[in-house]
Amino acid sequence: MSNSTIIGFFGAGKMAEGILCAIKDKSLVIMAEKNAERAEELKNKYQVTVTDNLKEVSQKANLIFLSVKPQDVVTVASEVKQYLNSTQILVSIVAGKTLSGLKDEFGSDVRLIRVMPNLALRANAGMCAICAASNAEAVDVKAVEEILGAAGATAVLEEKDFDAVTALSGSGPAYFAYMEEAMAEAGVKLGLKPDVARLLAEQTMYGTAKFLRESGMPLTPFINGVCTKGGTTAAGMEKLASSDFKDVVAKTLEAAANRSKELAK
Ligand SMILES: NC(=O)c1ccc[n+]([C@@H]2O[C@H](COP(=O)([O-])OP(=O)(O)OC[C@H]3O[C@@H](n4cnc5c(N)ncnc54)[C@H](OP(=O)(O)O)[C@@H]3O)[C@@H](O)[C@H]2O)c1
Repeated sequence: MSNSTIIGFFGAGKMAEGILCAIKDKSLVIMAEKNAERAEELKNKYQVTVTDNLKEVSQKANLIFLSVKPQDVVTVASEVKQYLNSTQILVSIVAGKTLSGLKDEFGSDVRLIRVMPNLALRANAGMCAICAASNAEAVDVKAVEEILGAAGATAVLEEKDFDAVTALSGSGPAYFAYMEEAMAEAGVKLGLKPDVARLLAEQTMYGTAKFLRESGMPLTPFINGVCTKGGTTAAGMEKLASSDFKDVVAKTLEAAANRSKELAK
């Protein structure tokens, strides 16, 4: 990505703000947002250029994030298609929109990249899977990796993996929050105050993920290592491992992946 690459956004909602936060030089950013109150909020918070004019972004930006809700894509495409050309990169973060569907909407000129981010992007700890259409170049993918890499981890994958990605990292924040809720509720049943139980559950989830990432330790030895024979963790793990927990998790992801397939039709 060159130092003068202008980064545009079609839609400046929650996910766009997550990406914006990771962009150091905000003077290179131009966002199109139709909600005037939201536009004002972002201008004041980040001193960034926000317009209500999609055409302006399509004419000025070299790399543009498509960050509206799926139901708004057709309207946006109909407004900008005529201005986009083969020197530009369009990066869609829209769930369920395939590269071929995007090509139908935005035309075959613009270089297309599809990303499945997750909500943790807003805490600068996102997980973004990236795949590229055949007309996108390696440098385009590198530019997107560079921008999103500043907001968390990235993985360049094939589009065939995107239903699984959507199920795992895209939808995953809700499942981990549900696990945290279950742990906290169980703590309350054991006599802890709700806010204390939540802190204990959340910090344990956060710290465990941090340790596993930093140490790179394989999971089974880690689990076995904390399960001292005859100890408390072993007593809990015995109950967990003999339950259908993994089966339920597998079915949860399967349901999300199936829904992702349906939405892409
Ligand atoms: N949230 C997640 O966890 C997550 C995860 C993975 C992928 N995604 C994808 O990320 C995309 C954005 O999600 P989000 O949660 O950031 O949505 P959002 O907060 O609703 O942001 C979309 C913004 O775009 C604006 N907009 C709509 N049509 C427009 C137009 N024609 N011109 C200019 N602005 C327009 C909306 O304004 P109005 O509110 O006035 O309509 C809204 O402010 C979605 O496609 C979603 O599938 C989200």
